Formats: sequence, C-alpha cells, structure tokens
Amino acid sequence: MAIIGSPKGTHDLITDEARAYDYINKVCEEVATIYGFDPLLTPIFEANELFARGVGDATDIVRKEMYVFKDKGNRLMALRPEGTAGVIRSIIANKLYATNDLPLRLYYSGPMFRYERPQLGRYRQFHQFGVESVGSTSILADFEVILLAFHSLQALGFDDITIKINSLGRNEARVAYREALKQYYKPLLGKVCPDCKVRYEQNPLRMLDCKVESDVKFAKSAPKITDYLTTEDKDDLAFIRDSLENYGAKVVVDYGLVRGLDYYSGIIFEFEYVPTSGKDYGAIGGGGRYDKLVEDLGGPPLEGVGFAFGLERLHHILKEEGKLDHIPMKDDLMIVGMGEKTRTAAFSLLTTLRTYGLRGTTNFDDKSFKSIFKIAESRGARYALILGENELEREVVSVRNLETQEQTEVAFDEIVDYICHLFGIRGHHDCRCHDEDHECCDGDCDCECHGDDCECEADECHDPDCTCKNDKKKEKV
Ligand code: HAM
Repeated sequence: MAIIGSPKGTHDLITDEARAYDYINKVCEEVATIYGFDPLLTPIFEANELFARGVGDATDIVRKEMYVFKDKGNRLMALRPEGTAGVIRSIIANKLYATNDLPLRLYYSGPMFRYERPQLGRYRQFHQFGVESVGSTSILADFEVILLAFHSLQALGFDDITIKINSLGRNEARVAYREALKQYYKPLLGKVCPDCKVRYEQNPLRMLDCKVESDVKFAKSAPKITDYLTTEDKDDLAFIRDSLENYGAKVVVDYGLVRGLDYYSGIIFEFEYVPTSGKDYGAIGGGGRYDKLVEDLGGPPLEGVGFAFGLERLHHILKEEGKLDHIPMKDDLMIVGMGEKTRTAAFSLLTTLRTYGLRGTTNFDDKSFKSIFKIAESRGARYALILGENELEREVVSVRNLETQEQTEVAFDEIVDYICHLFGIRGHHDCRCHDEDHECCDGDCDCECHGDDCECEADECHDPDCTCKNDKKKEKV
C-alpha cells in the first residue's frame, strides 16, 4: 500500500526535536513570566473575517496564504496565520481590559498556518512564541517587549543578535505618508503589477514590499517614511535605539523595514541572526505597535505592542550552532526481565524505582542480552538490572554498570535502597530538601529550606519556615 507522506510544507517533530521545541518554548515562557506576562491560548481556527479585518485584506497573508474553509455549518473559517488577531479577539470577547490592570501582558505559543512556497526556514505549518502588551501608549511598553525578546534570545544562547527597528509613524505621519505614496504611485498605476493595483486601493504601504522586479524599482524611488515622521515618532525611535544599546544590543535603524501585516503603526522591529554557516533562515522574529487593531475588531480604543518568534528558525539555528546538545534525555537504567516468569517482577521493580524519579524502561519480550544492552546504551542508561529465572529463584537482582561492565548481585529486599544510593537518592522524589545529602530529612521530609549549608542536625538552618522533621530543628524553631 502507498505510504502517506506529511503534507507539503509541514514536518514531524521527532523525539529530541520535539524536546528541543519544548525547551525553546519553556525558556521563552520563563523569561515572559519574569516580565510579568501570563499565558493566553486561543483556537487555531477563527472566523475568516477576523484575519481579513485584523491582519488586513491587502496583505499577502490574507490574500494568498490563508487556509480558508467552510465548516459544516457553512461558516467561513481560517486556520490562524498568526497569533495577534486571535489574542485581541479574545481580549475583546472576554472583556479582559475591564477586569485586569492595563497593560494586559499576555504570551502564547502554538502552530500557525500560511500557504507559502516552502523553502529554508519557511513552512506551511510553523510554530510561534509571541507576546502582546495591550493597553498602554507608553514607549516603555514597546521597549519592554523588545527587551523581553532580546533577553529570551540571550537565554537561549543567541549571542550576536541584530535588532532592526523602524517607525511607521503614529496616526498623523501615517495619514500623510499614505497620501504621499498615493500621489507617487498614481501616474505609475498602468505599469505596476495587478496585485499592486489592489494594494494601491487598500493599503499603498504594501506596495513597498512587492517582490515583482519592476515594482521593486518603483519602491526604491518612492517617498520615504522618515520624511513624514513627527518629532515624537523620531524621538521614540531614538529612545528605543539608545535604550537597547544601553543593554548591549546591536541595533540597526532600517528605514526600509515595513513588515507584512497591516495593523502596525509606530515602532516596528525584527530580530536577525546569521549562523556561522551563513545560511539565511529569514528573520527569527518580529513585531511592533498597533494602534487601531483593538478598535478595528470592535473593542475599546486600546493600543498594543507585541512580537512573535518563529520556533522553527530558532530551532534550526540553535541546532546548527550546537546549542541544543544538552537536550537529549538520558535514561538512568534498564531492567532486563529474562524469561516469561520474571517479567512481572521486573515491571514492578521498575514501577517502584520510577516513583523515586528514576528514568528507565524494561523489555516486554525476550531478546538477546546483546540487543537489550544495545537498546540500553542507545537510551543512555547507566545501569542494567538483570532478573533471570535463576535470579528470581534466589531472590537477587544482577546490577551491571554499563560503563565499566562490572556486575554485582543484590538481594530483593535491598535493591531499591541500593539503586537509590547509586543515584544519590536518599528520599522519595517528592522531597524538596536541597541539601545534597538529605542530612536534615533523612530522605523523607517536607523540608523546604533551600540553604546551601542546610544541616539541620547541626542547628545551622535559620529558615523559620523550614518544616524539617528533625527533632533538634523542631526544638529550635
Ligand atoms: P511575522 O513577522 O509574520 O509576525 O511572524 C513572526 C515570525 O514567525 C517571523 O519572524 C518568522 O520567524 C516566523 N514565521 C513567519 N512565517 C513563517 C513560515 N512560513 N515558516 C516559518 N516561520 C515563519 C507575526 O506573525 C506577528 N503576529 C508578530 C506580532 C505580534 N506583532 C505584534 N504582535
């Protein structure tokens, strides 16, 4: 039978790769949490109209790249091409602005869908991690989200990021600039591509990022936004540049940067990183301020600013640069049950050891020792616990160090302690005592003392909240 491949432009995330995505997401989440952002997850499909109104009818994303379909109730729906419109819809529908302090600080992640031509770093289903800060007009809100992105990239190990910034101007400048573009393009309308004719009517700014060669030439000679920015816009741009530089970021003011979504106004930005190989994966992230999006989607007059990273692009680069080498999970042990009778005993020993937080597997079928050890090795296990029918009869387990190949026999009633000792585990895995030797808890306590020198027996723990069961400690507290 013919094999069914994955749809064009999609990819499976297999084990370590899935783990790497998880890790990248977690690092971003941790930094966002430090910045006071909370999670908000929205559906992966929404009413088509949300993106037409939100992202913009004139954008390539809405005109050419959306996965649009009718559901069984004849509603026109779309797979989300990006996360901002859905977050704003949710804020409005749930009136989050009325019940929370402003700005709302929210983060999200998940798959996005764009019917693009697949190429290096570009997929039809890809993943984003993004944040939105909604409800403040302060330039500090812009600075905060850019700094959050910068710190996330640093935390992931990106050490030479370039942040490209520009301003599309707030209202006044945008209206004037739009008018200037219309004046400029009016006599050229007979020569521009059919798409640009539509863009001219809907949003002439989009004509500037047309990829058709002849139109690129027109775009080069078009009026520049810089000539229309107000003093306030220019001050904002300078503030962002100087403040980011103060934090050690490499910043380039790129007046040609326009971004591909219609909701932007004011500050816009993109993050770039060129790996040692020189491969061009495209921008690793981008974002900006949007002043009318909330109102355009039927909400109150609130402004927002946000960004999104492309996780595929982050992943490709980090992998290429060897910055994900610590991700592969390693098992601690493998329990080998040899012979039908031993299987249940092997499984039950494994289950007990798992409750101590030890990672491992066991075989369900008979295989040669050679192939079982090979599996154990490929999973990174340090020990194999062998239980044959002979061991079962004598109530012992053979413990083999897979590095040195040394082997020793341990009695059934001592095996759990023995293994825990090998892995430096004195207590149940719920124990939160951070004392390496668990001296204060004897391996089974609720001690939450995080002191490096936590030796409650020596009366040195000064944490009044320590609930260590050690008697002396109790007396002292
Ligand atoms: P965007 O620039 O369209 O912005 O996408 C953000 C990032 O998603 C890009 O920089 C890129 O890394 C990644 N990306 C985009 N398309 C693809 C693709 N086809 N394959 C792989 N990666 C891709 C937005 O989506 C805005 N919603 C960001 C934002 C949030 N602005 C304000 N708030």
